[in-house]
Amino acid sequence: MAKLPEEFIQQLRDANDIVELFRSYADVKKRGRTYVCCCPFHSEKTPSCTIYPESQSFYCFGCGVGGDAINFVRKMDNVGYIDAVQILAQRVGLQMPARSPEEQRTSDLRRRCLEMNREAANFYYLQLVKGRDKRGLAYFSQRKLSPATIRKYGLGFAPDEWHLLRDHLRSKGYYEDEMVTAGLCRRSEKGAVYDYFRNRVMFPIVDLRGSVIAFGGRVLDDSKPKYLNTNDTPVFNKGRNLFSLNFAKNAASTTFLLAEGYMDVISINQAGFENVVATLGTAITPEQARLIAQYAKEVVISYDSDGAGQAATQRALGHFADVGLPTRILKMEGAKDPDEFIKKFGPERFRMLIEHADDATLFQLTKCKNGLDVDTEIGKTEYLRRAVKVLAEISNPLQREVYISKISHDTGVRAETLQLQVDGAVRSKKRSAERMQFRAIEAQSLQRDEINPEAQKYPKESKAELEILAYLIQHPEDYEMIWELIPPEHFKTEFHRRVYMTICQKCHDMGNFSISLLGEEFTPDEISRIIGITAKFHDSDINRDTLQDCAKLLQDAQNRIIPSAEMSDDDLRRLLNDKKQKK
Ligand code: UTP
Ligand code: MN
Repeated sequence: MAKLPEEFIQQLRDANDIVELFRSYADVKKRGRTYVCCCPFHSEKTPSCTIYPESQSFYCFGCGVGGDAINFVRKMDNVGYIDAVQILAQRVGLQMPARSPEEQRTSDLRRRCLEMNREAANFYYLQLVKGRDKRGLAYFSQRKLSPATIRKYGLGFAPDEWHLLRDHLRSKGYYEDEMVTAGLCRRSEKGAVYDYFRNRVMFPIVDLRGSVIAFGGRVLDDSKPKYLNTNDTPVFNKGRNLFSLNFAKNAASTTFLLAEGYMDVISINQAGFENVVATLGTAITPEQARLIAQYAKEVVISYDSDGAGQAATQRALGHFADVGLPTRILKMEGAKDPDEFIKKFGPERFRMLIEHADDATLFQLTKCKNGLDVDTEIGKTEYLRRAVKVLAEISNPLQREVYISKISHDTGVRAETLQLQVDGAVRSKKRSAERMQFRAIEAQSLQRDEINPEAQKYPKESKAELEILAYLIQHPEDYEMIWELIPPEHFKTEFHRRVYMTICQKCHDMGNFSISLLGEEFTPDEISRIIGITAKFHDSDINRDTLQDCAKLLQDAQNRIIPSAEMSDDDLRRLLNDKKQKK
């Protein structure tokens, strides 16, 4: 890979303040010299992600992700190093330096995928409104979509033919391989390329930058599969995007509606609710829940009223609880889904439905009654047993009390009695959570360290190496002294040695050092680890005495004939064999 000039990387880094970058994804709070926020890379309710403005880096003590602005974009947008640099350059209007042919190719391919998608969306739209086959238009009109809605969503029609889009894209100068990569066409076993979407009405999926990134296509009748969706491509990942988020993000309301599919979203939107999104043919992922939490203060799940919809609701509730987003559940009667409800009863009744949607706890409490006759003693007891469990999940004691008094009122059981039960359940839940956490930490320490596999074999040396690296990163101006003091071959672990040599090399070449200069030589996970080193020592200045001690420890380890006190018999045998051979 051709290297980007380090001056350019510095410039890019200076222009993209990491704190500002975080602000567009998370609620950032100042804490002393640093900033903290809930980590955008894993689900949490209390902030464990720290941002260090001085070194322009971040580290999450919860999940171990860390890095600089470039690593942040790599992880966040799931793109390679060069694409991340390009996104940051674009963000601040910096001109990219020339790149290697290979890098040029990947970014060209992404660009052409987006262009082809836009071209295809236009093509499908024109087929819908101007094409000879009017069935697509008839279908939308039968589903009561207005011309304005069709234009707003850029809906389209793929006629019942095998090569229309392919030939159109060809005429625009695109290659068949590219069409297949973009998910617009497929290649048959014999090698012929044909349109993926045929005889379907088309729903373009638009990302937050306004690019068409994929499509959903619905049959006009009851044949199967009802919907085809674009599979993952260089510009599309179905678990990370949401249908209609491009509109919902600008909605006045911060309450989001989560619907089950394309038609529900469009129908709800047409009824005057801009704040509605849906997943793209799959159950909601934790990432999508996080994405919604970035834009919404509350979400109302508006899934179908059938069994599948209710099961999906249950799963979604879990994901929203994980990201701490208050959730309510729409209870629809007299219609199977929001689309049908709005057609039958109108937008005003739908608005009331939203306003009266039960919160997640009420939904769960109602479910506790399933299959029970709560008028009998046995039924009531079982109901209370289940209800206590649900209440123990609520973290706010005040909120718990509100429900306790409601249940007490409904069942005639004294609130104090319920309170005692719930308190007990909360305590035992806490105990088991602590046990789980303890076990997780234990398991983690037994796990293989993928990035620095030798660290476990040489715990003392590895710790000394860490402190040396932390000192070096804190005091890059001292690199010559350190280099004199500690030759790289004294490092026991290969990973630390590589970090050490790279940093010293950068200091030598550039006269200074920052984490951003490591991006091309280390993987994102390795960078996270390096940032972790600095993060762990952030509040403790390592002094020169410590540095000397560490140097000595490594030196002694080199001189020692028996390398480690805890050597196994096998290791010893191997060592002796080694020595014999050398003689
Ligand atoms: P629904 O069957 O509820 O679709 O599936 P819908 O959007 O209400 O469509 P209409 O009203 O029948 O036209 C919900 C979602 O599940 C995905 C689609 O994303 C759909 O919008 N789905 C469904 C598929 O991906 N493939 C299928 O075959 C069916
Ligand atoms: Mn439907």
